[in-house]
Amino acid sequence: MANKDRVFIFDTTMRDGEQSPGASMSLEEKIQISRVFDELGIDVIEAGFPIASPGDFEAVSAISKVLKKSIPCGLARHSKKDIDRCYEALKHAPRFRIHTFISTSPLHMKHKLNKTPEQVYESIKEHVTYARNLTDDVEWSCEDGTRTDMDYMCKTVELAIKSGASTINIPDTVGYTVPSEFTKIIETLLNKVPNIDKAILSTHCHNDLGLAVANSLAGVQAGARQIECTINGIGERAGNAALEEVVMAIRTRNDLMPYETGINTTLLSKASKLVSNVTGFPVQFNKAIVGKNAFAHESGIHQDGMLKNRNTYEIMTPESVGVKQTSLVMGKHSGRHAFKDKLISLGYADLTDDVIENAFGKFKILADKKKHIYDEDIIALVDDSLVTDNKANKIILKSLKVFAGTGEPQKAEMKLDIDGQIKSASETGDGPVDAIFKCIKNLFPHDVNLQLYQVHAVTEGTDAQATVSVRIEENGKTTVGQAADTDTLVASANAYIAALNKMIIKRDKTAPMEQENEKVRGI
Ligand code: KIV
Ligand code: ZN
Repeated sequence: MANKDRVFIFDTTMRDGEQSPGASMSLEEKIQISRVFDELGIDVIEAGFPIASPGDFEAVSAISKVLKKSIPCGLARHSKKDIDRCYEALKHAPRFRIHTFISTSPLHMKHKLNKTPEQVYESIKEHVTYARNLTDDVEWSCEDGTRTDMDYMCKTVELAIKSGASTINIPDTVGYTVPSEFTKIIETLLNKVPNIDKAILSTHCHNDLGLAVANSLAGVQAGARQIECTINGIGERAGNAALEEVVMAIRTRNDLMPYETGINTTLLSKASKLVSNVTGFPVQFNKAIVGKNAFAHESGIHQDGMLKNRNTYEIMTPESVGVKQTSLVMGKHSGRHAFKDKLISLGYADLTDDVIENAFGKFKILADKKKHIYDEDIIALVDDSLVTDNKANKIILKSLKVFAGTGEPQKAEMKLDIDGQIKSASETGDGPVDAIFKCIKNLFPHDVNLQLYQVHAVTEGTDAQATVSVRIEENGKTTVGQAADTDTLVASANAYIAALNKMIIKRDKTAPMEQENEKVRGI
């Protein structure tokens, strides 16, 4: 480590990532993610944009209290109100970062900000100084940096450092740059800004041209020492640089990129699954590092090579990113103790007794239905328990009967427990799922748009569990519900109900300020 350069990993899954349409996360989910990120070894966690809504404020504040090693960070525009709100949310943490930003490209200054370059320049001095008086860890970003005039960028970066910023972030906000150009930008800043040695240069690359990871690595090779990224690459439009990809590229090609990150790579797969579950955004099968097929060898020639020597077709091991070989794990006779041990071996070391008990109950039911239970099944059960084990749930599925098949209209009969009262309904629909969703609507009238309905098989075989994700939208707010069951229709009902329960909580928590500030998100 001594002679290796440290590259800091700044995660923005819960800020930029949450700006992906439909990727909203609840407070509980953000706390759960933060705990995993902390364990993963992320240096700085951008937990949200506190001025954007009371929900964002509450999340940043709660996260700043749970992190043990990672530094919490909040985003703020160049506005004293934004910066104050950020400080209020973060102040409980022993150490925290305020990240403030303003656009510096001619296009953004003129059309978005309606400000002259001189006004923007003055604003940097005022707002970075203001933030620096609240914390000694200030990051400044020149939004749309890669379309900014280079001489102007050098002047603004110099001023931001002089005003107290210790991290200077260069966003490729619209995913426009290419590696050779980004290299030049970083090199120019390092060569021309006189006080650049007093700050760490950071990359923040969007993926509109599919170059976010390549650009981030080019930035680091040119001298940047922080990468801003997100798990699974989620984020605005085409997303951000994927954390797992930049980290594994540095680790695997350490001969070319002799840097260290503080990431425990064996937790990458777990973090990826969690973010995918919470957001309802599936990970594409061929996604580098964390895709289902990332370590699958199908062709005979490859399999033969692998048997002779794994290095023939494997540049990193599945174990190095936390992917274990599928294994037959337990059966219906396995007890609580063995189940707990299994959870620990799968990386679930700090679950509450309630969650373990809930998952164990589901495991026993599953063991009666399904012959072989694999690690993936256990993971699906626990993730399901983590997401649905919420005492605040208003609606609970008590029973479901579905009549499906050719000819007849499909019909569902359902009993729900709503606030402790059992209610039943029966509906026909355009398919069994439609009939199920109509029953829920009948028993608990509501008006939401169904944005996504998705089914995945957890393992192979016709008796596999199905994980269903449902995303609903109401007045611009979205929630995602997930559920796993060997019966796809039961999972569908539970996933819809989970999304609805979250929406009810979200509705209650939505103060008028949130509506007012929705436009803040339009950065
Ligand atoms: O993409 C971007 O420019 C941003 C900034 C707020 C850092 O997300
Ligand atoms: Zn961004």
